[in-house]
Amino acid sequence: MTSTVEAQAVQRRHAEDEFAAELAALAAGDDRPRPPGWLLSPAAVVTYLLGGTAADGTVIIPKYVGSRRLMEVAVATLATDRALLLLGVPGTAKTWVSEHLAAAVSGDSTLLVQGTAGTPEEAIRYGWNYARLLSEGPSRAALVPSPVLRAMADGRIARIEELTRVPSDVQDSLITVLSEKTLPVPELGEEVQARKGFNVIATANDRDRGVNELSSALRRRFNTVVLPVPAGVEEEVDIVSRRVAALGKALELPELPPAVDEIRRVVTVFRELRNGATEDGRTKLKSPSGTLSTAEAISVVTNGLALAAHFGDGLLRPSDVAAGIVGAVVKDPVSDQVVWQEYLETVIREREGWRDFYRAARRGE
Ligand SMILES: Nc1ncnc2c1ncn2[C@@H]1O[C@H](COP(=O)(O)OP(=O)(O)OP(=O)(O)O)[C@@H](O)[C@H]1O
Ligand SMILES: [Mg+2]
Repeated sequence: MTSTVEAQAVQRRHAEDEFAAELAALAAGDDRPRPPGWLLSPAAVVTYLLGGTAADGTVIIPKYVGSRRLMEVAVATLATDRALLLLGVPGTAKTWVSEHLAAAVSGDSTLLVQGTAGTPEEAIRYGWNYARLLSEGPSRAALVPSPVLRAMADGRIARIEELTRVPSDVQDSLITVLSEKTLPVPELGEEVQARKGFNVIATANDRDRGVNELSSALRRRFNTVVLPVPAGVEEEVDIVSRRVAALGKALELPELPPAVDEIRRVVTVFRELRNGATEDGRTKLKSPSGTLSTAEAISVVTNGLALAAHFGDGLLRPSDVAAGIVGAVVKDPVSDQVVWQEYLETVIREREGWRDFYRAARRGE
């Protein structure tokens, strides 16, 4: 167990700790019906995600910026017997939404399986403590439950990240869990039955499609919600500004005045290169090899703020974001460099108010 002092010093707190006051205020003022095993009603979960005010006036910060309907569909799914699959290109907040959903529904976002090509069946079912297994034989005490098994036993949400990277035979061990809501433990002649409140949120990356495509048997047990890339520049600027402000606080960076212009610049470059055309639609562009996601825009601006705060004059300048942008765009030193160079000389160079940025970006090459 971590003490309070240690807990405060962790780099990143779990959503249920970071937003404990919001969750408590929402629960206290929540007079809508709650699905069995849930800490909040579905409506309150959506308020937690999208922001608003609790009954006692507590301000709820928006976590997800985007479509309310999408979040309603996601939350409603969790109240049914189907699991939730969040699908989307990188950086569309799949992991982020999954963590906040688990925190709001069951007060625990830590029952997490990270899917990789090497994820073993034990990560979804259970394993054994071999020292105990050898000395005592199979027993409850020798069993090492997976996060999924613990979620079943406690009636909570289990999270599986990057489900499509998990080998197919391991994925299939989820089928019984999701359809029968039980996990047999033949070694003990027992089974673990899921308590009410149990469900699974999985995330998968669009780009991994085809890596280990979900079997149709498994896919039928999920409702899929596709998280889109932000629709417009202003929406994306809003997302980046909010996340950068929150991250800056968490990292205890010296505070700087808001830098909306610089954020808009980063977002514009990312969007134009991602979409393969300038925002006004007049110039066609080549797209670089890497993904220029919102998540990367957030990290470019955060890095820029650290530069400005520690080495600059306290204002976020074009030169503070230029190097970060070039680094994010040019992932392949040959082909991306060409794409970037062309964009720099044909678009950025001519753009009004972008002179300083153009110079800084050229120097940063
Ligand atoms: N619509 C959005 N609303 C709020 N935050 C967003 C939004 N889109 C992206 N973000 C932010 O982007 C960051 C990255 O999101 P996250 O890691 O959840 O992406 P992901 O979809 O899981 O990506 P990957 O496929 O690479 O795992 C988070 O800090 C999140 O806050
Ligand atoms: Mg993710």
